[in-house]
Parts: sequence; structure tokens; C-alpha cells
Amino acid sequence: CYTPELIHQFDVSDKTVVVIDVLRATSCMVAGLGSGVASITPVASVEECEALGAQGYVMAGERNGEKLPQFHLGNSPFDYMEKSLKGQKIATTTTNGTRALYLSKDAPEVIIGAFLNLKAVVNHLSKSKRDILLFCAGWKGKYNLEDSLFAGAVLDGLKKQAEFDSDAATAAFYLYQSMGKDPYYFISRSNHAKRLSKFGILKDIEYCSRCNEFDVVPKLKNGELVV
Ligand code: MLT
Repeated sequence: CYTPELIHQFDVSDKTVVVIDVLRATSCMVAGLGSGVASITPVASVEECEALGAQGYVMAGERNGEKLPQFHLGNSPFDYMEKSLKGQKIATTTTNGTRALYLSKDAPEVIIGAFLNLKAVVNHLSKSKRDILLFCAGWKGKYNLEDSLFAGAVLDGLKKQAEFDSDAATAAFYLYQSMGKDPYYFISRSNHAKRLSKFGILKDIEYCSRCNEFDVVPKLKNGELVV
């Protein structure tokens, strides 16, 4: 599924859903939980995030790529790796990533994917007995390069091309085959990378393009992400 706008075409009720927002929501979640954050609660609105903030959660997130002034953290993986966050609970709201998570909530298993935990995700999925839905968060309903490239990387890792049941999966697989050798080169040409580079955060784009920095598979459990 290349964007949340298409999710109604899929039945998530019997699938393992991998939510993908490489720039940057799911990369932040992997970096945070891989660095010792206790849990991350994704919420749809700024108000919900503030309500959790009043209960002691660290508030994180962005709108249109920019940190909200009243929040403690923005949406950079470097924010999430701060030593002081070890053992803390984070509440986050983002433009696309947390929306995709909300739309996956009826699935029996929801996990978080990013290049930062690619190998761990592939290992986990290779043992799965369920059908798998790779759910790209996209950008405001549109297709994006970075999430599609990651979907292709997962398909490449699973090595089960014969079982792809959609042209969408086949297209992602061949995208990765042709462009996956250097994810940073390709991702830095994406629209969202251009958007983020206007805020001077090239280091986030480079970091989110790295593979296998963390051996964790964050899972949604009772509304919060944990490992
Ligand atoms: C999102 O959820 O839309 C993003 O992670 C945007 C960003 O902060 O880069």
C-alpha cells in the first residue's frame, strides 16, 4: 500500500502490517526504542499529545517537517537518541507516519520498519505465518520514493518474489533492485528530502538512509510502541 489514501482497499484484520515512514517518523521510533526509550505512543492530534504531556510523557513530533514550539522534541532520530530519554515514555504526532499507524490499528500485528532496522524486520517477517502488508506512509496521500525503496528492500530480503500478489510489490522490488545499492543517493533525491533540506537537516536524511543500526522490531501493543 503506497499511501494511507489506498488503505481502504486492503483488509488489515488478518495481516502483519509493517508501517513505513523512512523520513522520518519510523526511523525516529526505531532509533528511540533501540536506544532505550521505554515506549512511544503515536497519536493523531497535537491536543492528544499535549494531554499525554500533562501526564508526564515527553512530547515529540512535527507538522510539515517542523518541530512544534510547545513540544520537547522534534522529529529527528537524533532527538530520540538523547541519553536522558532512557526509560522515558514519549508521545508523538507527525504529519503522515502516526496517521498510517492509526489506520493499521485493527491488524493483529503492527510493526515498525525503517532502513535502520531492515535486517531485524526481514528476520521477523520471514518467520511470520500471516500475509504481510507493507504500508508506506507517503506524503499527504501521495506516493514517495523513500518508503517505496524500503518496501522493495524488505521484499528483496524475503526472497519470495513468486508470492507477490500485486504489481505494487513487484514495482517496489525492482525499484530496490535498481536503486537500492546506495539508499542515501536515491533518498536524497526524494521530494521530502528536498523539503527537509530547506530546514538544514541533511544529517537526518543521511542517518535515516543507514541500514541495520538497530536490531529491534518495535510493535504496537495497546496503543503504544514497545520492543
Ligand atoms: C511524517 O510523519 O510525515 C514525517 O515523519 C515528517 C518528517 O518529520 O519528516
